[in-house]
Amino acid sequence: MANPKPSGPGEELSPEQQKFAETKQQQTAGGAEYRGDRGQYLKSDRQQKAEDKAAKKATKPPAPPLSRREFLNYAWGAALGVVLIEAGVATYLFALPRFKEGEFGGIFPLGTGASMPPVDAPPVRNLDGQFWLSNDTDGVRALYRVCTHLGCLYEWKDQTFRFECPCHGSKFVKDGQYIEGPAPRSLDQFKMQKLVNGQVVEETTTGGQALTVEASAEYVVDTGIVIKGQPV
Ligand code: FES
Repeated sequence: MANPKPSGPGEELSPEQQKFAETKQQQTAGGAEYRGDRGQYLKSDRQQKAEDKAAKKATKPPAPPLSRREFLNYAWGAALGVVLIEAGVATYLFALPRFKEGEFGGIFPLGTGASMPPVDAPPVRNLDGQFWLSNDTDGVRALYRVCTHLGCLYEWKDQTFRFECPCHGSKFVKDGQYIEGPAPRSLDQFKMQKLVNGQVVEETTTGGQALTVEASAEYVVDTGIVIKGQPV
């Protein structure tokens, strides 16, 4: 279609010019470009790409359905992933301390050796930590407050300078050694550590040996670890 000469401003369009203008408007709105006097309209790049994409999609063969083997492989992979994630979370949680510092079952910082009770003084009770801090010539210990007979709370007696259980009369010396009564062993104690410059230099052994007292060293009690008293 020849490109009719456009009329000047203010002039009325001829029917041919009117039709040409309408056609041009419609094709431009559809994304085509006017390319010449002959009236060829070419598709824009965007329109061409959209049509190519649609044609490609229409001719693409559908994905084949999953085989039984593939399905089982995917299922096993997913199950294994879940198990591994759960194991990782469990390991992480297990590695976290279960008790806060200063909470029974956790660590109790005692300060330096200078703050320990004197060697010839009565032991000092720690109610939150459930232990008696006892210091003598051998060193310092954290004795668990519970009697080794049937679990009563024994007490310190200044008059006799020893521990005595009110339930069945078991008695223990200041370092926790059994004296008499139905208790089957000496008093249990918690693990203690002695630290110098943040490094552990001494800790309670499984035999319950006391820690030597050094004025500048730091001491902590781990109420999560009980060391059994020696059997009688
Ligand atoms: S519970 Fe202490 S002597 Fe029995």
